[in-house]
Amino acid sequence: MKLAILSRNTKLYSTRRLVEAAREHGHSVRVLDPLRCYMRIASDGFQMHYKGREIAGYHAVIPRIGASVTRYGSAVLRQFELMETYTPNTSDAILRARDKLRSHQLLAAQRIGLPATVFGDNPDDTADLLSMLGPPPHVIKLNEGTQGAGVMLTEKLSASKGVIEALRGLYANFLVQEFVAEAKGADLRCFVVGGTVVAAMKRQAPKGDFRSNLHRGGTAKGVRASAAEQEVAVRAAQVLGLGVAGVDLIRSDRGPLVLEVNASPGLEGIEEASGVDVASEIIQYVSGRIQLKTPKRAGGKR
Ligand SMILES: Nc1ncnc2c1ncn2[C@@H]1O[C@H](COP(=O)(O)OP(=O)(O)O)[C@@H](O)[C@H]1O
Ligand SMILES: [Mg+2]
Repeated sequence: MKLAILSRNTKLYSTRRLVEAAREHGHSVRVLDPLRCYMRIASDGFQMHYKGREIAGYHAVIPRIGASVTRYGSAVLRQFELMETYTPNTSDAILRARDKLRSHQLLAAQRIGLPATVFGDNPDDTADLLSMLGPPPHVIKLNEGTQGAGVMLTEKLSASKGVIEALRGLYANFLVQEFVAEAKGADLRCFVVGGTVVAAMKRQAPKGDFRSNLHRGGTAKGVRASAAEQEVAVRAAQVLGLGVAGVDLIRSDRGPLVLEVNASPGLEGIEEASGVDVASEIIQYVSGRIQLKTPKRAGGKR
């Protein structure tokens, strides 16, 4: 197949690994910077150019769109979709996953376990809002934060109120959750490809922190997710419509709870921790989908 990878940087580990795996499996692959893709939108058809040349004929595109380019990147991806290029993660699915409020609502509606979550807009409602959640400790998260930055733990009600006031003053969107203490600073990243957990790792927060993100100094080791954990991870990806997803779970007394579903999960940590060739799993899944979609065309190249 002719494959495009939408990524801002060819040197990123995940991008490099996808390129490598695609070549190993005999596909032609090109990395396109989403910010250099520009498009014509008209009712007679969709066109896209890249650095002065037409982009056409791609069977599939794998989006690796960072949070900072979500809006433009998803428009580029949508243009690919309109040009009938297959993507394991559609622009709509990525937008659903990136918005924590929206994804939590969608997941909870399908009865997927989550830490109880509240959010509100008006400062006059803060006291009642927090009473809907229950007593502290609380976890306060920026709605569009990533990599653990923007996730805070407050042990006292006065601290919760203070942080919420400060965030409101900055016009930040956030949500507040119950703190799942029994997770003990660990979470479980399940890497889902096409309805299967292909790799999993347990991440442990560094001493003195409750956030297990590797970017915050967490450590990872490969583990096998339990059947219940795998089921929750696969369902969460499915509810949001993601073919490729990093589903973060925490282990609670009432079973696995979904913290977030990442639509552009990094490969470095998970491949290292699990020893699984996740890049090849993604490439093989994508190429399998294409073959399903476009059966042999006479004289067609793939
Ligand atoms: N409600 C919670 N209870 C306990 N720990 C939590 C909770 N929410 C988040 N954490 C910890 O903080 C980390 C970062 O939170 P997360 O929601 O994944 O935000 P980010 O998008 O920044 O990674 C998680 O991996 C987990 O270790
Ligand atoms: Mg996270």
